[in-house]
Amino acid sequence: MGSRSWKPRRPLLAAAVTVAVAASLVLAGCSEANDNRQNSLRPKGTEAQKIDNLFWPIMIIASVIGIAVVIATVYFALKFRYRAGTNDNPKQIHGNTRLEIGWTIVPALLLAVVAVPTISTIFDLSTEPDADALQVTVVGKQWWWQFEYTDAKVVTANELVIPTDRQVRVKLRACEAESCNVIHSFWVPELAGTRDVVPGRTNAVTLSADEPGTFLGQCKEYCGLAHADMRFRVIAKTPGDFEQWVSEQQQGPAQPVLEGEGAEQQPAGPAQRLIVNKYQCTNCHGFDDSSLVTYGPNLTHLGSRSVFASGTYPLNKKNLVDWVLDAPSMIPMQTGDPECRPSVVEGCVGMPSFTRNAGDLPKMTRAEAEQIADFLLEQQ
Ligand code: CUA
Repeated sequence: MGSRSWKPRRPLLAAAVTVAVAASLVLAGCSEANDNRQNSLRPKGTEAQKIDNLFWPIMIIASVIGIAVVIATVYFALKFRYRAGTNDNPKQIHGNTRLEIGWTIVPALLLAVVAVPTISTIFDLSTEPDADALQVTVVGKQWWWQFEYTDAKVVTANELVIPTDRQVRVKLRACEAESCNVIHSFWVPELAGTRDVVPGRTNAVTLSADEPGTFLGQCKEYCGLAHADMRFRVIAKTPGDFEQWVSEQQQGPAQPVLEGEGAEQQPAGPAQRLIVNKYQCTNCHGFDDSSLVTYGPNLTHLGSRSVFASGTYPLNKKNLVDWVLDAPSMIPMQTGDPECRPSVVEGCVGMPSFTRNAGDLPKMTRAEAEQIADFLLEQQ
């Protein structure tokens, strides 16, 4: 009898220890020390706060029910477990109308209670924002984000600069070209919920930030080779600083790429000659006009950004030189495949490697890449 009464406790003890270890590992991931700044449970804006306000009550209801179900399951499994000599079927309750009605109505009521705040939050978050909301069109590309400021006529990449205390209406489109029309998902966990970016349609999400700061975003839908590197950041500035930023972006380039008029236009210097003639960067990038939508990121004011390559690398000379030389070695791209030479094979997505396989373009030297990087970093 003594040994039998111990048996069920050991699996129980093992289960309890497993749960405790798992829970402490999970909770350790939530500590301040491991803050990855993508914590949707630490809302920094009105819309994120509304989602958080919905999350916690439902989380608590679901946890109470979940724990009750697990305890009941374990309890009944032990209570009615097989015992030698007493293997009679327990009392059957099939067809007990009161029980049947009870366990249909109670969950239905619970779901109804949960549905009320859920539906009202969904409607609340999808209403049209204030009339003075900042309108931004976000285009998901492979694999970076283009931000188009509708009223200011400014196009930038990978850093979405917004004013604090003002709603931002983000319209989401996917790259339309056949080589890049895949689904992405736009997510800034501290500022808003996720919204899919779907080719052929425009989705929208509203977000706002209470305080100035930098908030990390991430593509949340698998979209090909560099999905995990398809990051971005939202930089919230005070309204005054934001207006200042807009007017700086609206200005022309610090140094022009071309000089002269019409057919007489020529690259304005040695770095520009590399960019326009030798390596034809102007085929994909805009250098002279920050209002232009281009195939690759618009680089007119690249020097004013803190990161590049979809937010994967801090913007500094070393990183930029490496990138200009051989981008596919820093982020997985189709152009990293020796067969995929962008100027030769149609539909190769990504920047060419100028040291390995840039089609019929010459191989680039490090000195040339440094010259291009210096030029780009001066484009504030
Ligand atoms: Cu874009 Cu994943």
